[in-house]
Amino acid sequence: MSSAASYRARSVKGMRDLLPPATALWAHVEETARRVFGRYGYEEIRTPIVEETELFVRSVGATTDIVGKEMYSFADKKGKSLSLRPEATASVARAFAEHLRERPLPVRLFYIGPQFRYERPQRGRYRQFHQIGAELIGDGGPWSDAELVLMLFSFLRALGFADLRALVNTVGDPSSREAYKKRLRAYLEPRAAELGEDSRRRLDTNPLRILDTKKPAEIELLAQAPRLMDSLSEESRCHFQDLLRALDGCGVEYEIEDRLVRGLDYYTRTVFEIVSPSLGAQNAIVGGGRYDDLIEEVGGPPTPAIGFAIGLDRLIEVLPQAARRAAVEVTGLYVVPVGDISRIELLRLGEEIRNAGFTAMLELSSVSMRTALRRADRLGVRWAVLLGEEELGRGTITLKDFRSGEQTTAERKALGADLGRLIQGASP
Ligand code: HAM
Repeated sequence: MSSAASYRARSVKGMRDLLPPATALWAHVEETARRVFGRYGYEEIRTPIVEETELFVRSVGATTDIVGKEMYSFADKKGKSLSLRPEATASVARAFAEHLRERPLPVRLFYIGPQFRYERPQRGRYRQFHQIGAELIGDGGPWSDAELVLMLFSFLRALGFADLRALVNTVGDPSSREAYKKRLRAYLEPRAAELGEDSRRRLDTNPLRILDTKKPAEIELLAQAPRLMDSLSEESRCHFQDLLRALDGCGVEYEIEDRLVRGLDYYTRTVFEIVSPSLGAQNAIVGGGRYDDLIEEVGGPPTPAIGFAIGLDRLIEVLPQAARRAAVEVTGLYVVPVGDISRIELLRLGEEIRNAGFTAMLELSSVSMRTALRRADRLGVRWAVLLGEEELGRGTITLKDFRSGEQTTAERKALGADLGRLIQGASP
């Protein structure tokens, strides 16, 4: 037997097929994002999946887990190192610097698409995952931070979320952060023996990331450590205070989490995450923050910016019931032939129903009416439309409601009005 015959294709570990009916949920969430973000003046951007590896090294940072351990990098045919994007902010910053710098500022952009990180797959963590993100480029003031957070909450509320926790912090500007790194190092170095291996390594490379630890012993050690908040420059402190005032003023609930530093190096000042109790504390649904130096770093003019990315896979895992129902409700009609009615008549009726603004799925195979009705029911469709010689002669259709079992007649001449009245008027 050839090896080809025994090959059973499978998806790559950590990379999933998104299948119906769940894809309806994905589409619903994406449409909600487009609608809500559109109201805030955001326009869509689509950047390539592959970028030069150097872009991520310079932006996300060489010492981060994402770049150091998790990137899918490869040499192209000329030996140039390319990477599948592990996130999209670097790409958006590059695209802005390359193409959009002449546009009036601020430029408001959003994106929806897959990202790739070689992580250990588990619930809420995949190697190909999906983000909806937004970036506000060209304004450095705290009111832009507030508007972005308001947009995020407006989106989450539109999906029916009520119990999410927003955590906010500031990592200051580069000079306050450097000052703080020195103080933190001075505090931790004499206690290095109490740190785990990862944190000891970070002590040299990126001590701020130690604050992010999940290890109880390290958390305890850090309780007495100097606080970043106390190393802030006057400007950074005011920026953060103004943001908090704006969130208070607009009724946004949040908590200050002064150990929140985020796993990407480009952040300055405001950082935030949104977590869901039902996903577990390690799994943030949204992460974001300000990155005032990134665009210059990738070759653009000095341009402050802020943004966030929502982990779509995680968001959908905890999507409230109401949004699930709204997304999967099948509003279509299943058109079933009675007897040996001509399939051409069925095709014509299908077009009439669609032209009247409804979804029609036709039973075109030659199965019995019973089988066809069972298929419709199993698809979760509520309404079947029956068309036989009798209906054809009278210019009518018979509408069957699977939920109540009732049958009613509608006029084909007034199909839109009749279907609208019958379907919308039916008890839920
Ligand atoms: P991030 O925190 O690395 O930030 O990712 C944002 C969100 O993507 C996370 O909160 C999480 O929901 C989701 N995510 C990350 N990794 C995985 C994974 N392996 N599986 C499933 N979901 C995952 C960024 O990516 C920044 N670009 C956010 C940003 C935009 N900052 C400023 N602008």
